[in-house]
Amino acid sequence: MELIGRMMDGSFDYDRGGRLEPVSGGPGARQEDKIERLREVPLFEECSTKQLRSLAKITDVFDVPAGALIARAGEPGDEFFLISDGSARVDVSPDQHVLLGPGKFFGEMSLLDGGPRSATVVANTPVRLFVIRRRNFSVLLNDVPGLIHTLLVTLSRRVRQAEERAERLAAGATRT
Ligand code: CMP
Repeated sequence: MELIGRMMDGSFDYDRGGRLEPVSGGPGARQEDKIERLREVPLFEECSTKQLRSLAKITDVFDVPAGALIARAGEPGDEFFLISDGSARVDVSPDQHVLLGPGKFFGEMSLLDGGPRSATVVANTPVRLFVIRRRNFSVLLNDVPGLIHTLLVTLSRRVRQAEERAERLAAGATRT
């Protein structure tokens, strides 16, 4: 089970004395606070208040401690993540790591094609995440103007990077 699932069912072992609360804005968070937080996200800047209200209903907010494993490559994935604060490290391969900061998202690939997580993602710093579950992903796609376009651009970029990496590896293999 992924980190957020374990947070929800209480099986994630938090340092409760630490700076971060396990779930700062989980199911009990005030809708208006959530709407204000969502309003600050560039991805949602074209959203009306009505659309933000509907997004707030399907979004949970989690504070995740640095070093926590958020998603593991090869495992099934049921959540889309958008970084509100802090950064996450995507371990694309043992020698390729991509840092994602505020406003960036991850986890879209498993939701789009139903396949396993393509990479491991770890909290690089304490990170605050907006989390949207698979069953609500279509609401997100329908309610956020331009999101499908942004997803396509991001996916194209990620495919291009993967191809460039494969080419570099192949070139290295033929030289040795
Ligand atoms: P998913 O496969 O669901 O889970 C792991 C996530 O890591 C993946 O979705 C993408 O969101 C993200 N990811 C995969 N490859 C890259 C990459 N090259 N650069 C940035 N993020 C990536």
